[in-house]
Formats: sequence, C-alpha cells, structure tokens
Amino acid sequence: MHLIDKIKAKAKLNLQTVVLPESYDERMLYAAEKIVEQGLAKVVLLGNPDKVKESATAKGVKLDGVEIVDPNTSAKLASYVDGLVEIRKKKGLTPEDARKLLTAEDNLYYAGMMVRMGDAGGCVAGATSTTGNVLRASIQTIGTAAGIKTVSSFFIMITKDAKFGEDGVVFFADCAVNPNPDSQALAEIAVATAGNCKAFLDVEAKVAMLSFSTKGSATHPDVDKVTKAVEIAKQLAPDLLIDGELQADAALIPSIGEKKAPGSAVAGKANVVIFPDLDSGNIGYKLTERIGGAVAFGPILQGLAKPVNDLSRGCSVDDIVNVVAFTAVQAQ
Ligand code: ACO
Repeated sequence: MHLIDKIKAKAKLNLQTVVLPESYDERMLYAAEKIVEQGLAKVVLLGNPDKVKESATAKGVKLDGVEIVDPNTSAKLASYVDGLVEIRKKKGLTPEDARKLLTAEDNLYYAGMMVRMGDAGGCVAGATSTTGNVLRASIQTIGTAAGIKTVSSFFIMITKDAKFGEDGVVFFADCAVNPNPDSQALAEIAVATAGNCKAFLDVEAKVAMLSFSTKGSATHPDVDKVTKAVEIAKQLAPDLLIDGELQADAALIPSIGEKKAPGSAVAGKANVVIFPDLDSGNIGYKLTERIGGAVAFGPILQGLAKPVNDLSRGCSVDDIVNVVAFTAVQAQ
C-alpha cells in the first residue's frame, strides 16, 4: 500500500479533530469537504460562519459535518485569553494584547489555543500564512513537548530506488525550521525524527548525522558540532542506532558505508538522515525531489507538545487533505 494510503487508513481508525484556521482560502473549503467525505478527521473551520457558508455555497462545496467557529463570538474566547495571558506572563502579555492575537485575521493563535486546550487534536495552516508565523503562534500557544526544547521538522522522501533507506523511503531533517542548530538542537532533531520514523513506518530508525566529513576525514568546527550531537543524542536515547559524522554517500550506499565507516550499524543503511543546518537540509531535500525525482511529504513539524503542520503557500487541495491525515495520525 502507498504510504499516504497507509496514513489515511490509520487516520480513519481513531478519528481526531483538526482545526483549519484559514477558511477564507477556497482550497481549505474544498479540502474540508474531502476530509469529511473520506472520513479522515473531524474538521473545524475558523472564521465568520456567514462568510464561510456563502463562499462554500458559491463554489458548490458541501460543508455538512464541518464545524465553523468564529473566534470573535466564541464562548471559549474569554478562557483562551486567560490561558494565553498565563502562558505568556513572563513576556508581560496583557489581556488586551492576548485578545488581539486571538481574534487576529489569520486565526493562528486561536487555533493554537484550541489545540493546547484539547478542543482540537491538531492544526494545519500555512496556505496563506508564512512558515514563520505558523511556527511562532504554535510555539507560543502549544509549546514544546516535555523534555524537548527544539521544534523542528522532517520530510518523508519517497525515492525511486528501493535500495535507499526503508524500501526507498528516507526521513530527512531538519529541512524547514532551524537555520543554525547547535549540537544540542541537532541531537534533539535526531531523536525526534527517529521517533517519527518508528511511528510512521513501524521500523527501527537508523540515524545518520550528515557532514562533509566521514569519521574524521576532515577537521573543522562544523564537523565537531556533528560529532558532539551524536554524543548528546546517545545520552538522550541510549538505545538509538545513530552514527556520525557521515557523508551522505557513506550514510546511504552500503559499499561506500563499509569502506568509509567499517563496522557501523548505520552507515550504508540509514533510513533517517539529519542535516547539519537548514541550508544543507532545505537544499538537499529540494535537489532530491527535483533532480532525483523523489516524492517529498512534509514538512511535518515535531517537538511541539501537540501537532501542528505547516503547508506551502502553493499547496493544492490534495496536499491539504494529505497533511490533515498526517496531523490526525500524530494527534492519535
Ligand atoms: N524551537 C522552539 N522554540 C523556538 C524555536 C524552535 N526551533 N525557534 C524559536 N523559538 C522560540 C523563541 O525562543 C521565542 O520564544 P519566546 O517568545 O518565548 O521568547 C519564540 O519561539 C519566537 O521567537 P522569535 O525570536 O520570534 O523567533 P525567531 O525569529 O528565531 O523565529 C522561527 C523562529 C519562526 C522558527 C524561525 O526560525 C523561522 O522562521 N524558521 C522557518 C524558516 C523558514 O522560513 N523556512 C522555510 C522553509 S519551508 C520549505 O521550504 C518547505
């Protein structure tokens, strides 16, 4: 079964509520209809119900079974204001400013508070908002998971060649969030991505910490950052199969892994690759997708206490449906 079909099947087993804050974008309406039709999640759209319904009717979209909540008139607004003031009290957030954030046009803070308070299992946004705004609202409302300081992201790359990773599937991180992770952040990204590899593929993660050097072939502070991250990751997750620093070929191709890192449990067999920074990660996934012909699912966010996922502003309706399915599975 194709990976996305497996994710959708999993989503249907234990129906979660996903909030879509960007209801004024027509793609969200079409997606909401499809998500409910396919039984992937319960959907809450945020916005003025009259405006949303009028737009849906004009487009022939049926919103049966979709809940529409207006943050401005919601009975929950007062408790969300109190909640947000409490969360951000060290930053001196006033009730007036909290109310402004929670009733802002983009609905991102209201959606975040819904997820934090358990009124939705997860949130999908980014069709009209930037990645930075989606991340900032999520970090400030939902916060990070216990023991995690770094929110990051991963892509599931489905390559054309089954010899790579797990039958051709390789997890790439972090390709979308942290411009310059230090060793601690890299270690947290590695542990979190390994957990998601296990959760989504049901296989043991083999994590390669990528570099331009393999096992001391070059000496540079950037290499030290990666080797230190491996040590920290081993402390965070002693049973994790992780190795580095490794070049990408040594990580993914058995004959090269054996030559450059003999005896490694990961080299040549990696199904998770962690890039040393956002330049290499973002460029790496796009080259794999565009030149290598791989299919890229993501970015899926990780490290938040509850799931939020970011869309590309060029996303299609089917992209939204797929990301909602991923989010629903994370919410389970
Ligand atoms: N994990 C946890 N907390 C974080 C993180 C993180 N990765 N980054 C920032 N924070 C916290 C800060 O500590 C701060 O907390 P505070 O408000 O309690 O003090 C809060 O988040 C916001 O801080 P800012 O100073 O506004 O954050 P910053 O300017 O560093 O921006 C952000 C953080 C939004 C995550 C930024 O790094 C970003 O925009 N990253 C995305 C990069 C991007 O645009 N990628 C696009 C590629 S996507 C693609 O190609 C598919």
